[in-house]
Amino acid sequence: MTLAEPTAETVAEAARLLRDGRLVAFPTETVYGLGGDATNERAVAAIFEAKGRPQFNPLISHVLDAASAKAFVKWNDNAEKLAARFWPGPLTLVLPRAEGSTISLLATAGLDTVAIRAPSHPVAQALIRAAGRPVAAPSANRSGAVSPTRAEHVAESLGERVPMILDGGPCLVGVESTVLDLSGNRPTLLRPGGATREAIEAVVGPIALSDAIPSGESARKSPGQLASHYAPSRPVRLEATSVGPDEGLLAFGPEVPQGAMLSYNLSPSGDLGEAAANLFAMLRALDRPGIGRIAVMPIPQAGLGLAINDRLRRAAADDGTGQRR
Ligand code: TXA
Ligand code: MG
Repeated sequence: MTLAEPTAETVAEAARLLRDGRLVAFPTETVYGLGGDATNERAVAAIFEAKGRPQFNPLISHVLDAASAKAFVKWNDNAEKLAARFWPGPLTLVLPRAEGSTISLLATAGLDTVAIRAPSHPVAQALIRAAGRPVAAPSANRSGAVSPTRAEHVAESLGERVPMILDGGPCLVGVESTVLDLSGNRPTLLRPGGATREAIEAVVGPIALSDAIPSGESARKSPGQLASHYAPSRPVRLEATSVGPDEGLLAFGPEVPQGAMLSYNLSPSGDLGEAAANLFAMLRALDRPGIGRIAVMPIPQAGLGLAINDRLRRAAADDGTGQRR
């Protein structure tokens, strides 16, 4: 595995690997992606293999812009408006598969819809442009582990399973993209993320919400939202206002309870954007031997707090065995 500084040469080499059906981990503004050629079933199978996913969850296909997306999905008015406002950026649109779309069927897990987004990170854009095709990419971690926001996280989690990692430094958004289903009558939020509900509703009006931890119909629509998806291996206790000596504390804001074994503050000033950017790295730093449990202070349920709390609830719902309690 090569950990490469992104240059014209290393990006060209990464694009060659993708065209050969190999995998490349690359930075996006949200989290690192484990990329493969989205039009190559074997490459997509290799993604699932490297991740060790328990099932085939549908993946996001990454493109440069709305014009290139239209070759793969049936575009509509809401897609046009939202792409104009949010692309490139942390919003994934789920749209009906276009007639003759060359996106791998495995990438969409057999659904008749395709999740597509245009990332804003310059290294991601350079890679997609050089590859000359859409890049399928889930977060670049082993299944059930927290999403990587730094190249070193990818190396720790995937190691030799990925031939090349482009190191673009820490991800600025720090939580995954918002997934919005535009394939039905009404736009439906399938996963909260980097683009806030408020900002989306300002463009298309009221949207429908799927359950935070989906079951039934919404689980079928976004089967990647497993409860275990964002779980550290230690138990997680939410809404903590005091802390015990065996606990690691994930703090938020200026008023921090004392007495934890180890403590990280998502944002001492209470800034939700800063908290989102720190979330996965700090969870990971607290998930280590000697810590009995991770205690998390309350995070306001507004703006990016929705996405943060969604991730934390999943972490708390998991006991480290992939089973919900
Ligand atoms: O920020 C992100 O979105 C990152 C970066 C790498 O772009 N990617 C990412 O991918 O988080 P992944 O595979 O971890 O999550 C993809 C999400 C899952 O919740 C999946 O269920 C949903 O998108 N999804 C993908 N295709 C779908 C479809 N056709 N219908 C409904 N949901 C879909
Ligand atoms: Mg993921």
